[in-house]
Amino acid sequence: MSSNIDLVIFGVRGDLARRKLLPALYQLDKSGLLSDSTRIAAVAREKIDSVEFIRQTEELIKENAKEKGFDSKVWTRFSRRLHYIRIDFSQKKEFKALQQWAIDKRTMIYYLATPPSLYGSICKHLHDASCIKPTSRIVLEKPIGHDLQSSKGVNAAVGEYFEERNIYRIDHYLGKETVQNLLALRFANRIINSQWDNSCIDHVEITAAETVGIEGRWSYYDKVGQLRDMVQNHLLQLLCMVAMEPPSSLQANEIRGEKVKLLRALRPIDSDTVEENAVRGQYSAGWIAGSPVVGYLEEDGCESDASNNETYVALKVQVDNWRWAGVPFYLRTGKRMQEKVTQVVIAYKDNPHSLFPETEGEANNKLVIRLQPNEGIQLEMVSKKQSLKERLATEKRTLNLDFLDSSDESRIADAYERLFLEVIKGDQWLFVSRDEIEASWHWCDELLAAWRDRKVPTKAYSAGSWGPSKAEVLIESDNRSWYEE
Ligand code: BG6
Repeated sequence: MSSNIDLVIFGVRGDLARRKLLPALYQLDKSGLLSDSTRIAAVAREKIDSVEFIRQTEELIKENAKEKGFDSKVWTRFSRRLHYIRIDFSQKKEFKALQQWAIDKRTMIYYLATPPSLYGSICKHLHDASCIKPTSRIVLEKPIGHDLQSSKGVNAAVGEYFEERNIYRIDHYLGKETVQNLLALRFANRIINSQWDNSCIDHVEITAAETVGIEGRWSYYDKVGQLRDMVQNHLLQLLCMVAMEPPSSLQANEIRGEKVKLLRALRPIDSDTVEENAVRGQYSAGWIAGSPVVGYLEEDGCESDASNNETYVALKVQVDNWRWAGVPFYLRTGKRMQEKVTQVVIAYKDNPHSLFPETEGEANNKLVIRLQPNEGIQLEMVSKKQSLKERLATEKRTLNLDFLDSSDESRIADAYERLFLEVIKGDQWLFVSRDEIEASWHWCDELLAAWRDRKVPTKAYSAGSWGPSKAEVLIESDNRSWYEE
C-alpha cells in the first residue's frame, strides 16, 4: 500500500465524482487499501462548507453502498480524510488554497473530473501556485479532444506541466476486471494462445449495448455521437486487448506499446469503403423493459429535430497484420438497445473435415468473454448427447467460468477502484498513452470524414431493438450473424 499520497479531486460536485469516484474511494478504504495517512481534497467552485459537503457525501455513499454494505466505522475513518476546498478554476489566485493544503514531501495526485476544456488552465494554475513537483501525477478523464488535432492540443497543454510518465488518461473500460482478465486468458493459457490467430479464428465480435438513452446530455452528446463516445475509446481499447501481440512483459510500456502497434494496423475506413463497412443508427421511440421511451429527437433538451447524429454504430474492421489477415472484427455499440451487455465473442473456424455434418457452421466453438453483466467466460462446445437411443448424436454445451465465484470479496470491484489503486501505485498499465489516443483518433477521423463527405444518413432503429436492420446486413452479407445466446 503506497503511503505518502494525497488526492485532489477537481469537479467533485459533478456527476462522475458523485456516482463513481467518491464511492470507489470509500470502497478502497473499506477494503483496507488506502493508506491511513492519505488525505483527499475535494475541490469545486460551489460555495458549500466542509461539514455540509461531508454530510451530503455520507448520504450518497450510503445510497451507493446499499448492496455492498455501508460500514459506519469505515465511514468515520473515510470522512476524516475529506477536505472540501472551494476554488473557482478560472481564478489563478484561488489555487493558493491548494498550496496551503499541500504537505511537503507528499505526492499529490490531481484528478480532473472537469470538462476537458479546463485541463490546460487548471494545469497552468497549479504550476503558477507551485503545486506541481516532479512526483505529482495528473489523472484525465475522457474525452481527450474530439478529433486528432484537438486531442494533440489537450495533450500538449497538459504536457507542458506534466511529463508523460505522470499523466494517467482514464478509459474506465481498462479498469474492469474482465478486461484485465483478457491478458490472463490470452497469455497464461497455452491452449488459448496457441489458437489465437487467423488459422483458427473465423471472426471476432465486440458488442457494447446499453439500454440507457443519452441521460439528459442531449446538447453534449449531439456534438459527439456514439463513435466518439464509445468507439474511439472503449471499443478500440477492447479490440487492442483482444488483438495485440503478446507484450514481452506486463510492464506498462510494453503493453501500451503493443496497443499502439495494433491501432496503427487498423485498416482505414474511407469514403470508398464506408458504405460496406460502417452503419450509423439513431433510435426512434420504442419500449425498454416493458416501458415506452421516446426517440432521440424527442428527448428532453433536444435542440434540433433534424439532427443526424448517431446513437448506434456497427463496423467491420480489418487488422492488417500477419496474425489477423482475413479475420474481420465486427464492432457494435448503441444506446437504447434491448439489453445492457458488453461482450467479446471469439468465433472459431469450422473443422477442416466434418464427421458430424449436422453440427457444421451452427456449432462452431465460440468463446464468449462477458464484461457485464454476469462477468465471466463461456466456451461453447459440441459434446455427445448422453443417450442410448441415438448412436452418436451431438449437442451444443457450454463451459462456464463465473468470475464472481472466484472474487475474494463476493463482489466484482468497480473499474474506478482498480484505476485509483493503480494511480496511487504509480503504475500506468491500465491508462492510455498519448500515442494510443492519437492513433485511435487518427483512425476515427478518417471514418468521420467519410461519413461527412458522403453525407451518410443515420438509419432509424426502435428503442429496445438490436439496432438498424442494416447492421444485420453488414454481418450477414459475409454469411455470419451477430451472436445470440
Ligand atoms: C461512457 C460514455 O464513457 O461510458 C457513456 O460516455 C456510456 O455514454 C458509458 O454510457 C458506458 O459505460 P459502462 O461502464 O456502463 O459500459
